[in-house]
Amino acid sequence: MNSSKDLYSEIAQFLENEREVYGPFSMAETEINADTEPSVSAAKPTGETIKTVVEEENKEYRSMTTREKIEACSTLDELHELCEKAEELRTDLKGTNLVFGVGNPQADLMLIGEAPGAEEDRQGEPFVGAAGQLLNKILAAVNFNREDVYIANILKHRPPGNRNPNPDERSRSLPYLFRQIDLIQPKIILCLGLISGNTLLNREDLLRDLRGGFHPFRGADLTVTYHPAALLRNPQWKRPTWEDVQKVRKRYDELGCKP
Ligand code: URA
Ligand code: URA
Repeated sequence: MNSSKDLYSEIAQFLENEREVYGPFSMAETEINADTEPSVSAAKPTGETIKTVVEEENKEYRSMTTREKIEACSTLDELHELCEKAEELRTDLKGTNLVFGVGNPQADLMLIGEAPGAEEDRQGEPFVGAAGQLLNKILAAVNFNREDVYIANILKHRPPGNRNPNPDERSRSLPYLFRQIDLIQPKIILCLGLISGNTLLNREDLLRDLRGGFHPFRGADLTVTYHPAALLRNPQWKRPTWEDVQKVRKRYDELGCKP
């Protein structure tokens, strides 16, 4: 085995030979920089590192499907923000405002209408026009405050001329509404009108076949009654509506829902 002294002289001899053949050792400026720069920035960490992590996460988020983004919302605020950016929630009426939903995020009773009208679009809140005034009275008649329940619609944007939401608009909107329902976890859902009931239950029934009973739906008891706008045109439907909301009140109390 060589002693370290032998090793040293061997290396010295090797370097001497190299120098004779290739000339004196030197490094180009660029080589020095290339060698030192990465280690300098690696030693000086945070700002750059954090930026890289955030960029990676943004890239990951952008590559998620819409469904995955919806499912990733863990609060109503996050879902609200996602809905603000969602072009697919729009109808072919330009420049409308998002009407996300209103009320108590922990509500045991959730009301679901059809789509925003002109006044709802203006204010960004569901059921604030004439139908909304009547809805408030119907709720008050069975001792519910508007603030205690949660109110949303099948569509979150106003359709042109208040026409019925078409099947395509409904199916683009439903994943967002389902997430909204799952985040609120109501015990009872009251659908206002035939469109809302048939859309959620995925049926094409008549209102008389939908109302009167409760249907299991995403962990809630779902029932359907007349749309308040329909009551404004057809006062004879007020009595059956009154019966429906009394049933809702009764079920609400039986289930021990919040007062
Ligand atoms: N009609 C609805 O279905 N929803 C509203 O928000 C207003 C009127
Ligand atoms: N038909 C509807 O479309 N809605 C109602 O509320 C009642 C009848």
